[in-house]
Amino acid sequence: MEIRTFARTVLETEDLAVKLAPPREELTDEEPGPAYRAAEPGRPANLRFAPRSKADTPSILGMPDPAQRPRILHGFANHELQATELFAWALLAFPDAPPAFRRGLVHILQDEQRHTRMYIARVEDHGHRFGDFPVNGYFWKKAPHFLEPLDFICAMSLTFENANLDHTVDAAAAARRAGDPKSALVIDQIHRDEIEHVRFGWTWLQVFKKEDESAWEAWRSHLAFPLIPEKARGKRFYPAGREAAGIDDEFIRRLEKSVLLPPLRKKG
Ligand SMILES: [Fe+2]
Ligand SMILES: [Fe+2]
Repeated sequence: MEIRTFARTVLETEDLAVKLAPPREELTDEEPGPAYRAAEPGRPANLRFAPRSKADTPSILGMPDPAQRPRILHGFANHELQATELFAWALLAFPDAPPAFRRGLVHILQDEQRHTRMYIARVEDHGHRFGDFPVNGYFWKKAPHFLEPLDFICAMSLTFENANLDHTVDAAAAARRAGDPKSALVIDQIHRDEIEHVRFGWTWLQVFKKEDESAWEAWRSHLAFPLIPEKARGKRFYPAGREAAGIDDEFIRRLEKSVLLPPLRKKG
C-alpha cells in the first residue's frame, strides 16, 4: 500500500477503528504527490470538534476526583488522536519532503495511533467511552500555518511534543498519587516515545534550517503566533527529557528561561 493511501484513510475515515489501525501491508512511497492540505479530519459524530471553551482538558489537579479523571484521560486521548491525524495530514501536504523524513512521519503516526488506543483503554477502564465528552481541535487549528515541513516540525515536534516532555512527567506523578498506577504506566510509556518524537524534530531542524541560523532562531522564526517558546514547556521544566532527545545545551537553557510572566496587577 502507498503511504499516501494509508495517510488519507487515517485522515478521512469516520470509523475510529479504521483510523487507529496500523497498515495491513507494507508501505511504499512511490507516488507521494500531489500535495493535499485537508482542512479538517473525518471523525465520528461524537468526536467532532467543539469550541475549546466547552471542551478544555481539565487540569491534572483533578486526577484524584473519580469524576474528573476519565475526563482528563479523555482529553489526552483526543490530543493523541489529533497528533495521529496531523502526522497523516503532513504526509499528504508534503509529498516532496525527503523520503527519510516521510518514513519518520509514518513511524510517528503509528506511535500516535498506539498512544490514542492506550488512552482510550484507560478511559474505558474508568467506565466511559471515547466520545462521551466534548473534544477540541486545538492542534488542528494550527495546520493552516504549516506551509512547509519545517513549520510542521517546529510546531508539532518542537513545541507541542516538547511541552509534553514536561506534561507527561507531572501527569504520571498525579496519576500515581491518585492511586491509578495503570494510567501512570501508560503516561510513562508515552513520555519515552515522546523523547524520540522530539529527537525527530530536532534532527530535521538541523537539516532544514539555514546554515547561518541558530537552531533557536530557526525554530522561533517558524512558529506562527500564538505559538511562542513558552508553549514548548510545562509550568515545571524537566531538562532530562530534552537532553535524552539530543537537544543542545544552549536551546535547553533558553527554553528553561522562557517563562510566561503573570499578568500585571491593575493599580488601585
Ligand atoms: Fe503521542
Ligand atoms: Fe508524539
